[in-house]
Amino acid sequence: MLTGGGDCPGLNAVIRAIVRKSLSYGWECVGIENGWKGLVDIYTRPLDMNSVSGILQKGGTILGTSRTNPYKIEGGEQKVIENAKKLGLDALIAIGGEDTLGVANKLAKTGFKVVGVPKTIDNDLNGTDYTFGFDTAVNIAMDAIDRIHTTAESHHRAMIIEVMGRHAGWIAMHAGIAGGADLILIPEKEIRIDDVIKVMNDREKRGRTFSIIVVAEGAKISESDQKASEMILQDEKLDAFGHVRLGGIANLLAEIIEKKTGVETRATILGHIQRGGSPTAYDRVLGSRFGVHAVEMVKEGKFGRMAALKGTEIIDIPIQDAVESLKTVGDDFYDVARTFFR
Ligand code: F6P
Repeated sequence: MLTGGGDCPGLNAVIRAIVRKSLSYGWECVGIENGWKGLVDIYTRPLDMNSVSGILQKGGTILGTSRTNPYKIEGGEQKVIENAKKLGLDALIAIGGEDTLGVANKLAKTGFKVVGVPKTIDNDLNGTDYTFGFDTAVNIAMDAIDRIHTTAESHHRAMIIEVMGRHAGWIAMHAGIAGGADLILIPEKEIRIDDVIKVMNDREKRGRTFSIIVVAEGAKISESDQKASEMILQDEKLDAFGHVRLGGIANLLAEIIEKKTGVETRATILGHIQRGGSPTAYDRVLGSRFGVHAVEMVKEGKFGRMAALKGTEIIDIPIQDAVESLKTVGDDFYDVARTFFR
């Protein structure tokens, strides 16, 4: 098994479940270190009962991770296939998000025996209701919003809280609703500064002298009838999967709001705090269920498929269906959230 892409609370629960279930079938388990990098360069470690003991509650991944893309390395695909043979792997369980599973999908098309487990705090993978890690990130963000509420109220300020999520607003939506945000700004919906200010003004008329605004890192803003701004990037560099590093829209928003309203405004960027630390019970259970299911998939030869949550059931779907397009926030969900924008 390998864990690729950004780390995520619950990864160790999946690893533990895979090892425990595999051992119950008398199989041997090998951990590939640092995502696809470990199969391109061969970094492995044996995984037995003891090596997965005491890891359930730990954040991160005991196997390490990377954003290495074998398809961006000359002869990368061949290296992965040959190295898997050299290592005597009968099957691979790839635990990751759209990028890691995108690689798994391409490999599966060559006949490589791989199954997928969906991981990302962003919850933007199609075909599964939830990915593990998302619940932990939402709870961390909700806790931050709760804390920011009290200081916002004391100082009569507007507080902008920026959360992760890349091109999807799931973390912002869930944490914002749970934290009682007065406004939630997401990449899926156009945001006009005038609308933000209107909510603040309406609140002031009702005697509410503070505002809590949650913004997703991938959101864009526009002033009056101007075109929406580009997404705010931390720098121009792209990773091996062509992703930019987002972050900083909260600062821009705070500056504009303060200038336009005169209300003292502060920005908080939660960043990687959302990805660190101990997973929630929900993510531990979901990760464990995904891990066990992945082993069953290997047993049944269901390669090229990914474990997924549908309602309360764990099912499996073609990896292709999960990585074809991103799962973004739809109108129905947004309309619920909008009820509380005031
Ligand atoms: O995909 C998970 C995620 O945390 C995104 O929400 C965020 O944009 C990105 O990874 C950050 O990546 P990195 O850890 O490489 O800075």
